[in-house]
Amino acid sequence: MKKRIFVAREVFGEVLDFLAGHFEVTANQEDKVLSGEELARILADKEGALTTLTERIDEDLLSRCPKLKAVCNIAVGYNNIDLTACNARGVMATNTPGVLDDTAADFAWALILATARRLNEAEAYVRQGQWDKWKLKQFLGLDVHHATLGIVGLGRIGQVVARRAAGFEMEVIYHDVRRAAPEIEAACRARYVTKEELFGKADIVTIHVPYSRETHHLIGAPEIAFMKKSAILIHAARGGVVDDDALVEALRRGAIAGAGLDVFEGEPALHPGFLELKNVVLSPHIASSSEKTRFKMAMMAAENLSAALSTGDPPNLLNPEVKAR
Ligand code: GLV
Repeated sequence: MKKRIFVAREVFGEVLDFLAGHFEVTANQEDKVLSGEELARILADKEGALTTLTERIDEDLLSRCPKLKAVCNIAVGYNNIDLTACNARGVMATNTPGVLDDTAADFAWALILATARRLNEAEAYVRQGQWDKWKLKQFLGLDVHHATLGIVGLGRIGQVVARRAAGFEMEVIYHDVRRAAPEIEAACRARYVTKEELFGKADIVTIHVPYSRETHHLIGAPEIAFMKKSAILIHAARGGVVDDDALVEALRRGAIAGAGLDVFEGEPALHPGFLELKNVVLSPHIASSSEKTRFKMAMMAAENLSAALSTGDPPNLLNPEVKAR
C-alpha cells in the first residue's frame, strides 16, 4: 500500500505527478493557507508532508500527527519548523539548499539597483502622468558602481551577491558570526569587518542571514544609527531579522536614504509605515521566484520526501539526529 502524504500548498503539476508515482497524495492545489488546526486534522493520518514557510510545524501539531515521519520544506529557510520538536518525535525535516542561491542573489541586486536609483518612485511618476519636462535634478539617486557594499551574512547567497559586485567595481565588506575561509573571501573579494564598521562604512547594506532566535532583530535601531544618511538597506532574507519598527522610524526621519524589502515581520501583513514611505521598494517575498528555480525547489522537496519515506536517509536532512533512532 502506498504511503499517504499531503502537499500543503499549490505546486507544479509535474511535481504532483512525481509524488503520485510514489505516494497516495492529497494536495491543497486551491492554495488556501491552512490554520494549524486544519493542518493537524489533515496530517493526522499522513506519513509525509510537503510544506512551505506558511505552515508552522511545532510540537502542538506533531503531537496530533503520530504517523508523520517526514516534513519536507519547499524553501531553504526552515524557521517554520521546530527541529527540537521534530527530533523528539523522530520526524525528519529537509530543506532545499543550493538551488536558489543565484536567483535570490539576482533579486537582491534588483532591489539594490531599484532602491539606489529610485526606480519605483520614477515609475509611479511616469504612470501617473506627472512627467512634463526633463529636469537636471530629477530623482537624484545613489551610484551603485564604485560604492561600498556591506554584506551581513556571507553564506551561500551572500557569496553570490558579493561576486556580482565585481561587475560594479565595488568595495565589498562583510560581517558574519564566523569569518569565511580565505579562499571564499578571495573569490568574493570581500573583507571581513566588525558589525559597527560595516554599518558605518557601507553605502549599501544587504542582509543574507537565516532567521533564528540569535538573528531576531539583528538589525535594529543601534545598527541603523551607525549607517550613513545617504546609505540604503536591502533585506531579502527573512522577516524578523530586521526590526521593522526601527526601520520605519529611521526612514521617516531621513536617517537613511531608502530601503529595498522583500520580507517583513508578520508578513503578509506589514508595518503600515512602509506603505506611506516613497523611498522604499517593496516586494512580496519573491527573491527565489523565477520559473526555473521555484520548480527546482518544489521538485527537490518532493525528491527529499520520496527518499525520506523509502530509505529514511533523504538528501538535505536538517536533523540527522533522527536517523540514529
Ligand atoms: C525562501 O524564502 C526560502 O527560504 O527558500
